[in-house]
Amino acid sequence: MADLGTDIDRAAALLQQGEVVGIPTETVYGLAANALRGDAVAKIFEAKNRPFFDPLIVHLASVDQVGTYATEFPLAARKLAERFWPGPLTLVLPRRAFLPDITTSGLPTVGLRSPRHPLLQQLLNRLDFPLAAPSANPFGYVSPTTAQHVQAQLGHTVPYILDGGPCQVGIESTIVGFADGVTILRLGGVVQEEIERVVGPVKLATQKNSNPLAPGQLESHYSPRKKLVLGKLPELLALHSHLQVSVLSFQTDYRHKSQVILSPSGDVREAAQRLFASLRALDAEPSELILAEAVPESGLGRAINDRLRRASA
Ligand code: TXA
Ligand code: MG
Repeated sequence: MADLGTDIDRAAALLQQGEVVGIPTETVYGLAANALRGDAVAKIFEAKNRPFFDPLIVHLASVDQVGTYATEFPLAARKLAERFWPGPLTLVLPRRAFLPDITTSGLPTVGLRSPRHPLLQQLLNRLDFPLAAPSANPFGYVSPTTAQHVQAQLGHTVPYILDGGPCQVGIESTIVGFADGVTILRLGGVVQEEIERVVGPVKLATQKNSNPLAPGQLESHYSPRKKLVLGKLPELLALHSHLQVSVLSFQTDYRHKSQVILSPSGDVREAAQRLFASLRALDAEPSELILAEAVPESGLGRAINDRLRRASA
C-alpha cells in the first residue's frame, strides 16, 4: 500500500525517478507523473486502467510556462489564465511536438492547468518538469476528494500519496478549447457565467459518446458501482418503496435511514465539495440503488448536475 504524508521532498524524488505519485489539487486528487517522460506517463494509464485515447491534463507551476508547451496562446486563453489561474481551469491549446504522444493521446493539442493547492504548488516549483495527472480513480468511477479515497482504490499502484486534506472545490476543472471560438468542453469548478464575464459568450460542447474530445464528456462517467437514478425524490421513493435504497438530496431532509443531504443550507459550493465523497459513501451502504435529485441548474449547479447525469447514465 502507498504511504500517505506531506513530504514534498519524497514526492519530488519519486517523480524525478519516473514514478507515479498521488497528488492533491483544489478540485480532485490526481495521479501524477513527469509529463515529459513517456515511460512515466504510461504507468498512470496502467494504474488507472485508462484507455490510451484519453489525454491527460498537464499541470504547470505558473502561466509563464504555457509557451514552453503550447505553440499558441490566444488572447481569450490568456485573459482566462490571468483571471482564473492558479485555479480549476484547463486550457486546451495547440501543443509543442516534443511532448510525448502518450501524454496528449496523439492529439495536436494539450490541456494545460495551473492548480491552486498550496502543497501541489510547492511540489511543482520544486520540479523542473510539469506533471501529467488525471483524476486518481479507476477509469469511469467517481473522482477522489481525499487522500484516503486514493489509498482505498489505487493505493496498491503507487508508492506515495501526498495528503493535502479534503479538496476545496470537489469537482474537476472546467476545460475550455479555442479551436472554433471559445468552447467549454467540460463543465467544472469555474462556472460558465464567470468565463463569459471575461471573454463574452461561449459555446458549450455537445456530448459525444464515441471518439470523445474529452472523455469527461462520455455519457457514462463519474459513476458509482451501484445504479443511480436521477429524478424527483418523492416520486422515486414511492416508485422504489419495495427496494432498499439510499438517498442523495440537495437540501431537503427526506428522513430516510440511508441518506446524504449535500447542503442543508442550499449552498451549491458546499454541494460540489461533498458530491463525490457522498456518492462513495452511499455506494458503500447496504442498499441496492441510489436515488438522487438534481441541484438548481445554474452556476456550479450545472457542473454538479452534469456529473449526476453521467453517474446515472
Ligand atoms: O480538475 C481536474 O482537471 C483534475 C485534476 C487532477 O487536475 N484532472 C482531471 O483529469 O479531471 P481527467 O484526466 O480525469 O480528466 C481530464 C479530461 C479528460 O476527459 C481529457 O479527455 C480532457 O481532460 N483532455 C485532456 N487533454 C485534452 C485535449 N488536448 N483536448 C481535449 N480534451 C482534453
Ligand atoms: Mg477523471
